[in-house]
Amino acid sequence: MKICSGRSYHEATKHSWLSVRQNPKRLDWSNQPRSMKIYPPSLLRIKLSKEFPSHSFIYHIGGITAKKSYPEVEYYLRTNPSAGALYPNEIYFQARGVEGFDDGIYHFEVSTSSAVMLYALKEEEEGLEPLLKLKNQMSGLLFFVSAVYYRSAWKYRERAYRYTLLDAGHILGAIEAGSYLYNHAYRVVYGADLQGLNRFFGFGEEEFFLSSAVVAVPKKGVPVSLPDLALEQVDPAGVFLHAADIEKAYRETITLKNCKKEPRYPALSFHKDRWEEAILKRRSIREFSKNSISKGQLEALLEAVYMPVPSDCDEELMLYMVVNRVDGMKQGVYLRNEILREGDFSKKAGYLCLEQRLGSDSAVTFFILSSGCNYRALYQKAGLWGHRLYLLSEYMGLGCSGIGAYYDDEVKEFLGDEGMVLYALAIGPK
Ligand SMILES: Cc1cc2nc3c(=O)[nH]c(=O)nc-3n(C[C@H](O)[C@H](O)[C@H](O)COP(=O)(O)O)c2cc1C
Repeated sequence: MKICSGRSYHEATKHSWLSVRQNPKRLDWSNQPRSMKIYPPSLLRIKLSKEFPSHSFIYHIGGITAKKSYPEVEYYLRTNPSAGALYPNEIYFQARGVEGFDDGIYHFEVSTSSAVMLYALKEEEEGLEPLLKLKNQMSGLLFFVSAVYYRSAWKYRERAYRYTLLDAGHILGAIEAGSYLYNHAYRVVYGADLQGLNRFFGFGEEEFFLSSAVVAVPKKGVPVSLPDLALEQVDPAGVFLHAADIEKAYRETITLKNCKKEPRYPALSFHKDRWEEAILKRRSIREFSKNSISKGQLEALLEAVYMPVPSDCDEELMLYMVVNRVDGMKQGVYLRNEILREGDFSKKAGYLCLEQRLGSDSAVTFFILSSGCNYRALYQKAGLWGHRLYLLSEYMGLGCSGIGAYYDDEVKEFLGDEGMVLYALAIGPK
């Protein structure tokens, strides 16, 4: 039997009708982790400005775009969505030969919309390229996405590793979307030396890297070596409690096996100003109008989702659709163009999403499944697909919401697929 990384973790973190009733969550509001990491004020900060395309690019990946105020708390919403708005991921990057940045290694400080220089590349030959298994210097931007998992585990407990991966996938999707405006190709690297990166950045168990992305070109014949030091970590969230199951799942999913490379790039073709508007305006819909979308709109969405995701470890994902309200299409369950079961399953779709109305009031509710073996890679790809759905919906004037909570086994049974249920999303008119 094939032994796949992450399977046992996935099995152990399924929701069922009973499990959500037997284990109601009580949140300790007095001990909520901070969602923004802040390095010491003594470090050099570069305030992101619209003057430099590279700065806009960084901002597009996770910058603050809205503020919500309640009597007790204020929430800052960002270009990227996040389960429960907990934002467990942090973004780091290396810039070399990029206008607007001195050559160095940076943390994207979301709270001040700045890049904090953690390390200035002193020598010509220094850089993080070896940890990406690249022999030559790269001219451009190298991104590294980490997870401060307790931010999410505080609320979602063991299931949080799933959300850190989905949210990281959304950040990779934001890199894809931003790189289109930055006029530069990107590719995802899941197979970086994550332990080496964790060591270099000085992380303890509270933070670990999940993935990286390259928006850079090699300088032929210029070798590079890792700076001979480790950076100093700062407490990223203020509160940390170990979740042994998550740390075990991370360890088990670090190593990738039998990866299939995807060398192709997505042929994105959008009106650039409107695309930027979609990035900046994207929000999760809270209630659908229950109107329908057209078949053409759905086809445009699917065309974009199915474009290749360039990476070093591409896993196959299945995108099932429960079509509730699409003009010119029969209601039913679909896989690609094929109708698997005809009928009105809108109520069922809402029920499967933990009785959330988003699932039944949508025009289409999607379920992403996979039987792949490289859990860390396949889960982030599901998040990236989710990001495409979000941005395309916004671009077309539609609403979208990610749905991380669903009754795992009942979804599988309903769809007749033995794979792991990774993510659900609902789209429809606002
Ligand atoms: C992985 C993931 C899972 C989510 N799950 C749900 C969900 O089950 N129900 C829901 O109403 N919203 C869900 N959301 C939407 C978040 O609540 C939303 O992204 C967050 O509040 C930030 O708001 P914004 O997307 O408008 O910026 C999810 C988002 C993500 C990325």
